[in-house]
Amino acid sequence: MHFKKILLLFLFASVLCGCIEMRIPNTTPQIIPIPINQELKSNQFILDSSVGIYASEEFQLSSAFLKNFIENGSSIEIQNSNEIEFILVATLKPEAYELDIQSDKISIKASSEVGAFYAVQSLRQLLPVSFENCSYMHSEVAIQCLTIKDQPEFKYRGMHLDVGRHMFSVDFIKRYIDALAMLKMNTFHWHLTEDQGWRIEIKKYPKLQEVAAYRDETLVGHYSDQPHQFDGKKYGGYYTQEEIKDIVAYAEERFVTIIPEIEMPGHSQAAIAAYPELGCTREPVKVATKWGVFEEIYCPNEFTFQFLEDVLDEVMELFPSQYIHIGGDEAPKARWKNSEFCQDFIKNHNLKDEHGLQSYFIQRMEKYLNSKGRQIIGWDEILEGGLAPNATVMSWRGVEGAVAAAKAGHNVIITPTSHCYFDYYQSENDDEPLAIGGYLPLEKVYSFNPIPEELTEDESKYVLGAQGNIWTEYMPKEDQVEYMMFPRVLAMSEILWSHSEKRNYNDFVGSVENFHKRLETLGINYANHLYEIEGRMVSLNGDTAYRLKTLSQGKMIRFTLNGTQPSVSSDMYTSEIPITKTCTLKAAVFNEDNQIGSTFTQKINYHKAIGTKISIDKNPHEAYSGSGAEGLINGVSGSDARYADNEWLGFWGEDIEITIDLNEEKKINSVETRFYNGNGQWIYAPKAVHLKFTLDDGTIVTDVKEVNLKNENLVNFKYDFKTPEDLKVTVKSLSLMISNYGTIPEGKQGAGNKAWTFIDEIIIN
Ligand code: ACM
Repeated sequence: MHFKKILLLFLFASVLCGCIEMRIPNTTPQIIPIPINQELKSNQFILDSSVGIYASEEFQLSSAFLKNFIENGSSIEIQNSNEIEFILVATLKPEAYELDIQSDKISIKASSEVGAFYAVQSLRQLLPVSFENCSYMHSEVAIQCLTIKDQPEFKYRGMHLDVGRHMFSVDFIKRYIDALAMLKMNTFHWHLTEDQGWRIEIKKYPKLQEVAAYRDETLVGHYSDQPHQFDGKKYGGYYTQEEIKDIVAYAEERFVTIIPEIEMPGHSQAAIAAYPELGCTREPVKVATKWGVFEEIYCPNEFTFQFLEDVLDEVMELFPSQYIHIGGDEAPKARWKNSEFCQDFIKNHNLKDEHGLQSYFIQRMEKYLNSKGRQIIGWDEILEGGLAPNATVMSWRGVEGAVAAAKAGHNVIITPTSHCYFDYYQSENDDEPLAIGGYLPLEKVYSFNPIPEELTEDESKYVLGAQGNIWTEYMPKEDQVEYMMFPRVLAMSEILWSHSEKRNYNDFVGSVENFHKRLETLGINYANHLYEIEGRMVSLNGDTAYRLKTLSQGKMIRFTLNGTQPSVSSDMYTSEIPITKTCTLKAAVFNEDNQIGSTFTQKINYHKAIGTKISIDKNPHEAYSGSGAEGLINGVSGSDARYADNEWLGFWGEDIEITIDLNEEKKINSVETRFYNGNGQWIYAPKAVHLKFTLDDGTIVTDVKEVNLKNENLVNFKYDFKTPEDLKVTVKSLSLMISNYGTIPEGKQGAGNKAWTFIDEIIIN
């Protein structure tokens, strides 16, 4: 052959090769949620326009999904041959699948369509991300040969979305469902009614559309910001029944069950605004314009029960789900207490009290729904006053509700605030978008075990699964919902699908970093905290040091201790940094040339309690346990902006005694701390602190100092020795006795409940 011809042929061949996206890494693909079993093979399958899909009747939906995904995502056209084949294997469990990719054949095995659909979702993650937005430019793609055998750990894998506080477009709801399907999650808990808006069209009650669906205006900023300000703009809307039918059908095709939630008896102010006869006072009320828990509650009269049955009839027509969620949470009883009708009702029905009435209410609705072949789910408050016989309990205030319900033989779905509330902050950065409060970073979601330790193996069978919750008070926009959802939903999907022995947080973080590209291509506004730094004070052989870490792997952390901005020439972090004096530490993640994450700044106040011993007579609440008791004397104060970071500790309804043993006698001049006082979040600073000092000669000195309760979120407390010189003694240990504020007073959010106490660093000088 002529040399020029050979060269041309070579060039042509190289161009051709360049057309194929060669994706033959020698590493296991980073599918989320991680499959139980993946076996890599050498070789590759070439997907091009010569490939066909064969599927029998049972697999029409999943095979059509795959065909559309390939044809819409690229210029590849699928034929009628069988290089990709869907095969029925009746012995596989309902949601299980096997995906076998050989060089000449892809086999998808499942016993049902849903298993095949999940195989397709795994195959999707083996294809280039450009398929996701129809921008794959080549005519072929190489897929790594491998075999996956996979099945879920839990049968209920859910995400919730509150559309009462803010409402989102039909298109967004579909994209939300798409994301769940991609992650093999199978339940969308759609929270449709709230004090601030009723969002489902009910034809029999037109005022729900005219009145309950709209509020006059909306609170601006955080509930804790005083005085409250409003935007003056009417807000609202609702989903028509036609839209809901469309969404339900869309979800069905993606194997996502929608569970609608119609709240009762509380969180019902919008409905009562439309039909005052549903309330206890009959007084007109407005659809709520701010957040929180409201006193309005359905009155247990026949009009109400008829209304709710009529509403549920229309709901059941629209939603074929086995479960209907009837709420049951946060139902203040003041209106029932003050209503002659309700008090007579309690007597005439031999009910113990208002909790008994709530139980009667829920059981009556359960009976109605059971008679129509449906089951109820309720938030864990439905345990109070007696659980409805067939109810499934959704445990949110911890796992106690789940434990009690499972022990009583009821199914449970686990969604505690501590691990499942995606409306909480996910980073300690001060520039995070406004959120309700709390702190739930990715790692904590990933550490979640949906089976409470208190359950035996037998009892744990009642745990159907878990879900992440998105309450939208502080998420008016769709991209804000995405930001709070991603990447935490990736962690939730892996907890619920993948077996615990397969899960590894470092590997997961690598998969999340890889998944960013897919999310970007899908146009999803995810939060990226992977290049941020987290820091903790630690004690190393009695010496104080500061530990830094970043989630990303293969990157460097550089730092300074004098408050200056770190640069590529700053010290590289290799192990804990010894801390011996007050300083400001700054650090950031770098690649070879540049800083790639935001700057981490930590002020360290080296005071006299550092390195001493601390104990508290109670454990902080699981959701607010920060860095434990030691975190109160580690030189690091909590965030000013929010109480739920790693430095604040939260206690619910308890008096606490904190003892600090100074190791050696020390002269001290003052004891300082801070309390959080966010009354909207049921948090109250104590009224006073009782102090007790044990002096070097064993004498005990006690004193009480009132807390200066200003109308502010942060309350500073400082106890000065009036005459430190006169004291002429040194202190060996001291304790602070902090009484809980007590019951939340009438007229405040959460009235009648126990108040929280939040305390920050205890600074001794
Ligand atoms: C809830 O968060 N009120 C269930």
